[in-house]
This record gives sequence, C-alpha cells and structure tokens, in this order.
Amino acid sequence: MLLSARAVEKSFETADGSHPVLRGVSLELAAGRTLALTGESGSGKSTLLHLLAGLDTPDGGTIEIEGQDIAHLDDAGRAALRRSRVGLIFQQFNLIPSLSVADNLTFHARLAGREVEGVADLAARLGLGDHLHRFPEQLSGGQQQRVAIGRTVLARPALVLADEPTGNLDEATGDATIDLLRGLASETGAGLLMVTHSDRLAAMLDARLHLRAGQLA
Ligand SMILES: Nc1ncnc2c1ncn2[C@@H]1O[C@H](COP(=O)(O)OP(=O)(O)OP(=O)(O)O)[C@@H](O)[C@H]1O
Ligand SMILES: [Mg+2]
Repeated sequence: MLLSARAVEKSFETADGSHPVLRGVSLELAAGRTLALTGESGSGKSTLLHLLAGLDTPDGGTIEIEGQDIAHLDDAGRAALRRSRVGLIFQQFNLIPSLSVADNLTFHARLAGREVEGVADLAARLGLGDHLHRFPEQLSGGQQQRVAIGRTVLARPALVLADEPTGNLDEATGDATIDLLRGLASETGAGLLMVTHSDRLAAMLDARLHLRAGQLA
C-alpha cells in the first residue's frame, strides 16, 4: 500500500485544555488512485495532511508510506522521504521568493534528483507560459497556487498530498489543474490525496472520505 494510516489521533493543547482533532482516523491509498478528503472548516483536514507528510507527530496510531512507518524515521529520514517520494501542495504555497517562476517550478524536481523536462509545456498548461521569468511576489494568489502545483507535477512524487489546491482558482482553471493531478496519477502511478470543499471536484476523484467530529466516513 502506498499510504496507510491506522487509528491516528491528534489533540492540540491550548490555555483552556486539550482539544481532540483526530480521534482514530484510518485510511488507505493505493498507487495510481485518487482520494478526496472533505470536511467542514476546522474539522482537521490540514492537521491530517501534516501528519501524513511527517511534518507533525500523531499522539497515537501509525502512518506508513510505501510500507515504512514514518515514526521510525528520524528528522533527516523524514525530510529525505518528503524530498524524494512525497509532493506537498499546501494552503500556503511556500514558493521561494528569490527564485523565478521557472526556477520555482523545477526546484523540487532537482532536489529529488529528477531529470527536468517539459517545463514550457507544463507552464503553458497551467497558464503560466508568459510568467516564467517573474518572481512569486509578482503573481496573483491563483498563479502562485498553479506554480506550487506545477512544481509538484514536475517532481513526479509517488504520493501527492494536496490541501485545497484549487482554493484560489476559478472553475475552469481549477478543473484543468485537477486534470493535471489526475493525469499524474494515471501516467506515473502516483497516489493523490486532495482536500477540497467542492462536492463537484470531490466527485471527479476515485473515492471520497469525509472528516467529521474527528473521524472519517
Ligand atoms: N498548532 C495548533 N495549535 C492549536 N490548535 C490547532 C493547531 N493547528 C490546528 N489547530 C486546531 O485544530 C482544528 C483543525 O484545524 P485544521 O487546520 O486541521 O482544519 P481544516 O479542516 O484544515 O480547516 P480549513 O478547511 O479551514 O482549512 C482547528 O480547530 C484548529 O483551530
Ligand atoms: Mg485546512
């Protein structure tokens, strides 16, 4: 199994006590499959993605990527796994401000040791063809989001974790990016777990899970 989470629990401590966010979340994602994750704002979707990416540690349960329990890796091991196997598209795009769009697009592929090809073609598909020499601060939010998606596509990860990757996009542009991510899954066998607030987009993926009261249904 590409990704498997079992009985994952996470609480956050605040001044007024402990707030459970995830109360025993289990899911599986096979290579080449696409899975939508829906749930109200504040239901814990981003928290779950951070845990799956090894950016935060669960209070209980296990997370395996390609059969490897990520709790058994040290920080360097988790970083190496993210660099070489996992593509993250977050609500904040985390572009590198000092690099052009073209260099941002190829950065993760280079980090992962991938041969970079098809940049111009991909940029055109993302509507970024005329912006390759701009810098992130010179782009709209939706354009920055498309750079973050393109960067992930070029790196060809085994697992894509995408947090509302179309949140800043109009319907047509959003659909085009979903097509791109689905194409990555079908062409390279990547697994895609995508958070979305859109029932329409969720219906475009192979399966769907809904997070409510800390549990998936
Ligand atoms: N570092 C933190 N410290 C304390 N509470 C946190 C922390 N991170 C998240 N939370 C809380 O955990 C809950 C889930 O947050 P999360 O960001 O996972 O929600 P979400 O489903 O991604 O929401 P949205 O759809 O708005 O992005 C929220 O109640 C949030 O306030
Ligand atoms: Mg979120």
